[in-house]
Amino acid sequence: MPIPTDLNQIPDWIAAQLVRAGVDRKSAMKWPVLVTGSDASGSSGRVVVLRRFEPQNHRAVIYTDRRSRKMKDLAERSQAELVFFDPKQMLQVRLRGDAIVHADGAIKDATFDTLSARSQSDYSTITAPGARLEKPQPERELNLSRDHFALIEIDAFEYDVLSLERDGHRRALIEFSDQQCHASWVTP
Ligand SMILES: Cc1cc2nc3c(=O)[nH]c(=O)nc-3n(C[C@H](O)[C@H](O)[C@H](O)COP(=O)(O)O)c2cc1C
Repeated sequence: MPIPTDLNQIPDWIAAQLVRAGVDRKSAMKWPVLVTGSDASGSSGRVVVLRRFEPQNHRAVIYTDRRSRKMKDLAERSQAELVFFDPKQMLQVRLRGDAIVHADGAIKDATFDTLSARSQSDYSTITAPGARLEKPQPERELNLSRDHFALIEIDAFEYDVLSLERDGHRRALIEFSDQQCHASWVTP
């Protein structure tokens, strides 16, 4: 379904696309690029899985290893961007938001318990993501531990949506502030 012509419908339309991406592995928007940055290291982007999208608060949920660079960046600068691209719709959605990290606590524990053993093992490498290795595969801990698992929630404060269309591209900016939503068309 193309981007609505009525600006007021666009926030709900984006949310519907992202809710679907959260549950549908066939959606190209399941695999956004998460961009973070820090003063020391500059900006950095990487593909992640969109695990869930909560439309009521425009919140995207990502899982990660707490030892990874993105976590260090977010500790310094909590603003982050998720870039989604759907080649079938030629649609780009850039979600800018504030990240809330759960590296400890009940939300992290409850989420980890829902993962399959195979998914849990993604967080069981002895060395941290990015650490140099002598061989291609890292060593893993013998017992599956939740220590390295973390959950990142990103609450959108802005969407920048671009739809490439044969008879004219369209781009809209949606900004959330003080419980209000402001939508405008912008030059693509
Ligand atoms: C298809 C695909 C899905 C990925 N999903 C995740 C993910 O959900 N969470 C994650 O932390 N890394 C994921 N990665 C790995 C990241 O792209 C990245 O290599 C890793 O998180 C280390 O990033 P960092 O050191 O910049 O933090 C995925 C990679 C690919 C290719």
